[in-house]
Amino acid sequence: MKHVDTPAHPREAAPGIPDVEITLDVNGEPHRMRLDARVTLLDALRDHLGLTGAKKGCDQGACGACTVLVDGKRIVSCLALAAQYDGREVTTIEGLAQNGVPHPMQQAFARHDAFQCGYCTPGQIMSAVSLQAEGRAETEEDIREFMSGNICRCGAYPNIRAAIREVVSEVRDASL
Ligand code: FES
Ligand code: FES
Repeated sequence: MKHVDTPAHPREAAPGIPDVEITLDVNGEPHRMRLDARVTLLDALRDHLGLTGAKKGCDQGACGACTVLVDGKRIVSCLALAAQYDGREVTTIEGLAQNGVPHPMQQAFARHDAFQCGYCTPGQIMSAVSLQAEGRAETEEDIREFMSGNICRCGAYPNIRAAIREVVSEVRDASL
């Protein structure tokens, strides 16, 4: 287990607020961490563990750039306190590839050119992976609706939806 014992970020520091000790299982590896109780899961991942795949876009739950999976379900990590997730399994974009092979959704995003600047892409992919696992990506309308929390300022939406459709239909065909 890795131990991360970092002082609070200067803007987090406040006298009289005790640190918390938690263990986060991130991408299959447990990390024992001592943190200011007010540190968000996003900041814990980015600033304390150096996992910068999840992006800070709005920092107020409106853009989806910070989407990660907790116990397989997507959440916006900028609105989550790390201390709430003691003992839970967190998956970030860095944890999707298996043995160096990108996840099928990552491959589909590349094939369909489903990004321009790429800032929203990790969040889009994590949401898409979760959506697929939830069985909520069966129709174009479903994909539009359930991906609507992930904003892309570059407007890559048609390509993003095409990538998701392809992965969903491949999985469906493989199960027939
Ligand atoms: Fe979390 Fe925008 S940074 S939703
Ligand atoms: Fe630029 Fe989505 S690819 S914000």
